[in-house]
Amino acid sequence: MTNIPAFAMNSPGPSVQEILEKTNEKVPYPLDFESYKFLGTEDIDFSRYTSREFFQKEMDKMWSRVWQWACREEHIPEPGDYTVYDVGQYSIVVVRTDEGSIKAFYNSCLHRGTKFFHSDTQGAVSQLTCPFHGWTWNLDGSLKKIPNAWDFEHVKAEDLHLPELKVETWGGFVFINMDPDAKPLKEYIAPLDDHFKRWNLADRYIAVHVQKELPCNWKAAAEAFLENYHTQTVHPQLIGSSSSPSTQYDILGDHLSRFYNLTTVPDPVIGRELSEQERLDMALVGDGSMNNPVQVPEGGTARNTLAEMLRKQFAAMDIEVGDLTDAEIIDTMEYTLFPNMFLFPGLSLPMIYRFRPLGMDPDKSLFDLIFLRPVPRSGERPSPPEPIRIGIEDSYTTVPELDPGMAEVYDQDTNNMGLQQLGFYTAKKRGQTLGNYQEVRIRHLHATVDRYLED
Ligand code: FES
Ligand SMILES: [Fe+2]
Repeated sequence: MTNIPAFAMNSPGPSVQEILEKTNEKVPYPLDFESYKFLGTEDIDFSRYTSREFFQKEMDKMWSRVWQWACREEHIPEPGDYTVYDVGQYSIVVVRTDEGSIKAFYNSCLHRGTKFFHSDTQGAVSQLTCPFHGWTWNLDGSLKKIPNAWDFEHVKAEDLHLPELKVETWGGFVFINMDPDAKPLKEYIAPLDDHFKRWNLADRYIAVHVQKELPCNWKAAAEAFLENYHTQTVHPQLIGSSSSPSTQYDILGDHLSRFYNLTTVPDPVIGRELSEQERLDMALVGDGSMNNPVQVPEGGTARNTLAEMLRKQFAAMDIEVGDLTDAEIIDTMEYTLFPNMFLFPGLSLPMIYRFRPLGMDPDKSLFDLIFLRPVPRSGERPSPPEPIRIGIEDSYTTVPELDPGMAEVYDQDTNNMGLQQLGFYTAKKRGQTLGNYQEVRIRHLHATVDRYLED
């Protein structure tokens, strides 16, 4: 790490890498290094979250040019299966063609513009038919039929091919990009592919999918998950097993950052040393699936006891753990792929998040929360569930598929979002002041937005 001012790295630590070294715990690449980058100290102006002009600029210059995941491949396994992906003003139909390839089209008829399908819906069709006058396209986007074609002698079928977006897949996710000149996905996401060599997300399935509407700008929503700084205030039940000063924050690429948190390392605010047994007990607090008390054996640690316990649970669920290390099973590695995808490759908390503008309102966003679990050894992949949609006022505890402990954590996270968005409007001091280390990934998000807006 070079060119980092001393004030930017003054965490009381110890750092993740120092803890691993001290305890002699071997972790594989890419968990064995840190990559902090100092990105400056300027305040982040609140208008970036509230201004309609800024929001429109993001639409015109950023959302229309970035790779973003629209669905999983298993959402559209058969020819004719489609999913509608919406982001702000844009609505995209992703469809499996008769040949088995995946195509993406703008969700708008070439006659008089009507959307083929409602936002965020999915289904199966044999062709794309507009609900207004019945213009119809084949699944590959070629024009099939215009009712009363005699009235349209002035148009040629080849000019009426549905405009296509770029489509690529990675890790079982279908990504789209509206920019015809976009660079290849693999280049855009680098070094994500390299980091995920040991974690194959294509071999996972959607166990739970919850969509919650949020009363804040999409960036404010995402930012609540870019740092672990809020944990001591927002999730006090977690400080025994999650330390903000000991969380590692990495800037990995133009579009990629991560945090790495060692489970069972307590936050120093707890004010005393914890025994290995206490560390283990605190790591299990609020986890409804782990009600039976577990003892740390003589000479064992909270970390390896927890990892062994989870290995047994995964074996009972017919899930292959293979050569995954303790860290890969119990720790929280959160990768953020600009602009809106969060990936957690660890086995114990295998989430995927997505934050996107909801309609054309800078004050609203939609949060997709997915639990992406490994496909059992039998190879049977459960079909993806319909997303459970909950409103701004609804608690995650109303979703029976969610562990109650996790539901509480997500309620805690999302409860502050409306307060923050309203605070942006009433503020006298017109920007947010970020921590140099713990909040550097928020600065990275804004720097990347700016690169698109200024381009
Ligand atoms: S608007 Fe689509 S067929 Fe008329
Ligand atoms: Fe949180």
